[in-house]
Amino acid sequence: MVRTSSPGKVILFGEHAVVYGEPAIALAVTSRFKMNVRPRAGGKGHLVDGHRMTAAHHSYFKYAVENYWDGGPLDIATDSEIPSSSGMGSSAALTTSLMGALVELSGGTIDDERERIARQSFATEYGVQGRASPTDTSTATMGMGILLAKGPMDGLLWHVERGGAEWYIHRVDVPQLNIVVGFTGIKGNTGELVAKVRRFWESNNFAKETVADIGKLTMEGVEALNAGDVERLGELMDRNHQMLSILGVNHPKLQRLVEAARPHSYGAKLTGAGGGGSMIAITDEPERVAKAIQDAGGRPFIAEIRAPGLRRDGD
Ligand code: MEV
Repeated sequence: MVRTSSPGKVILFGEHAVVYGEPAIALAVTSRFKMNVRPRAGGKGHLVDGHRMTAAHHSYFKYAVENYWDGGPLDIATDSEIPSSSGMGSSAALTTSLMGALVELSGGTIDDERERIARQSFATEYGVQGRASPTDTSTATMGMGILLAKGPMDGLLWHVERGGAEWYIHRVDVPQLNIVVGFTGIKGNTGELVAKVRRFWESNNFAKETVADIGKLTMEGVEALNAGDVERLGELMDRNHQMLSILGVNHPKLQRLVEAARPHSYGAKLTGAGGGGSMIAITDEPERVAKAIQDAGGRPFIAEIRAPGLRRDGD
């Protein structure tokens, strides 16, 4: 049996625009998607948490196993600390944990195969969602902080191209930040939200300009991170949130949580695909912001960042 786990993530800047090759910054958080995978002795077909694996219920598992596993039937047990469809990258963490387990079951090691795992996990997300960027899968594989940029910079890991877009994937140093996440409790459908932004982007120049502006703002965010300038980071987060609202992925409940957090925060924005899902705030008063989010009807939690990436856990 192999036990693996991968971190969830929050996107600090650049969601949606990154699908078009614009930059983004994502941070791994300590909530993890854990998995036990073992060969299924004497059984036919794969099992997930005791149920037969189906495309309807286990799309990421099925895609990954059909494309990247040539061994016998598997028995997979999951245990996730990341709420599904919350904007915190649970499907990417699921996929990288599974891909890591498949590598280890085939006699390889996660550490030797990280780049391949990240690439295959991205291909899986892309295959299942229709269109995606490698943000979530790179962060789940590598942990800590990840910058996707338009060209090579310090900390370059690898380069990815897909569907007419390309990304240079980097490690990025992140100062200790107090991040509070507020989950609306409303599950956003990433594939549908990405498709909605695409329709807008294809038909409207203003949407194209907004996507490009998010990219520029994200690179300003890199400078603010490097300088440890939290006030600047906060301002940029507020502006990024406004641009995401223009792209049509905000939600009234998300907006309520963002407004509740702002009086005690440097900045706040939706994170991930939106349409529900979660928001994040950067603050010196995490307990106070968590309470404000709760009072506004959200489910808060104080996120610890700089979490390690995909790993094999003790048997
Ligand atoms: C989802 O966490 C982030 C999006 O930008 C989609 C993607 O990058 O694949 C909305």
